[in-house]
Amino acid sequence: MHRIETLDEFIIKRQKSHSTATGELTGLLRDIGLAAKIVNREVNKAGLINILGKYQEENASGEQVAKLDIYANERLIDFLKTSGECAGLASEELENYVKFPPRNEKQGKYVVVVDPLDGSSNIDVNVSVGTIFGIYRRLTPDDQEVEERDFLQPGLDLVAAGYVIYGTSTILVYSTGHGVNGFTLDPSIGEFCLSHRDIKIPNEGPYYSVNQGYYLKFDLEMRRYIDYCSDLNLRLRYIGTMVADIHRILFQGGVFLYPNTRKYPKGKLRLLYECNPLAYIVEQAGGKALNVKLDRILEMIPEELHQRSSVIMGSPAMIDEMAEFVQRYAPNIPAESQ
Ligand code: AHG
Ligand code: MN
Ligand code: MN
Repeated sequence: MHRIETLDEFIIKRQKSHSTATGELTGLLRDIGLAAKIVNREVNKAGLINILGKYQEENASGEQVAKLDIYANERLIDFLKTSGECAGLASEELENYVKFPPRNEKQGKYVVVVDPLDGSSNIDVNVSVGTIFGIYRRLTPDDQEVEERDFLQPGLDLVAAGYVIYGTSTILVYSTGHGVNGFTLDPSIGEFCLSHRDIKIPNEGPYYSVNQGYYLKFDLEMRRYIDYCSDLNLRLRYIGTMVADIHRILFQGGVFLYPNTRKYPKGKLRLLYECNPLAYIVEQAGGKALNVKLDRILEMIPEELHQRSSVIMGSPAMIDEMAEFVQRYAPNIPAESQ
């Protein structure tokens, strides 16, 4: 029997094997792992205590907030504020970014973007939810306070990103730009243990994942592509938690789509907190991630914290095929823009 490898051991080992890596990023990743364990504990007992249901507020994107969203947001802030490595945080749940004061006179080198609880409409009905995070090296000098531009960096500049899925088991998946690895929480020892080494997305797969209820609100090229998926007898799977839908596709192959609709003319999902970190993971695993104009998600320059984007991501051969539909049926997309 081989010995298990915990998330902390793995992170430290990786740091030693990359000469440019510093202990700060290691500490930050460990703190995110710790916050995830605390959120996991609350998600697991959500049915038992008075934590289910809606909170009275709307979040910064104008959506109703479930109580666990607030809880997860607060725990992430608690852990990152005291880590000493993080100078500020931007969250789907906060109108503006928060600045963290220096610790031991040391200002953090990194900023973090988070969707503290993804799939919140699924909490009350015991369906998988997640946490998404991205880490950037700040642009402002380390001895100053963070500014908005520290958070408005393209996904290409992420130094690490990942997600936690609170599902039948709790799994943390992350990358620092050297492949993707997954860690399953062993509740008996309270540790994330390496369970999915060097994850590679299949070149194609049997699933397509889209809210097909909006079919009539999609542009022609998306409708044509969805018709094609249906014609091929691909299996439709849509959980309504992006983390969970992407998790399936990462392991089994397929394509995830959230195009623009009439209600969300730029797409619904948030570039900073959802699209970029998951695009980073998908690309690191060998997949592709574009918007409906066929721009690479990671190259988009964010203009505001809560910017939304359309998104299409998943198995590379399927994304290439989808791009052909867009070029054939969308009026304004030249072939060379792919
Ligand atoms: P959140 O719970 O963080 O607001 O995110 C929900 C997102 C995403 O996880 C999911 O893919 C999508 O919204 C579902 O939206 P629809 O209900 O419009 O399909
Ligand atoms: Mn979300
Ligand atoms: Mn959320």
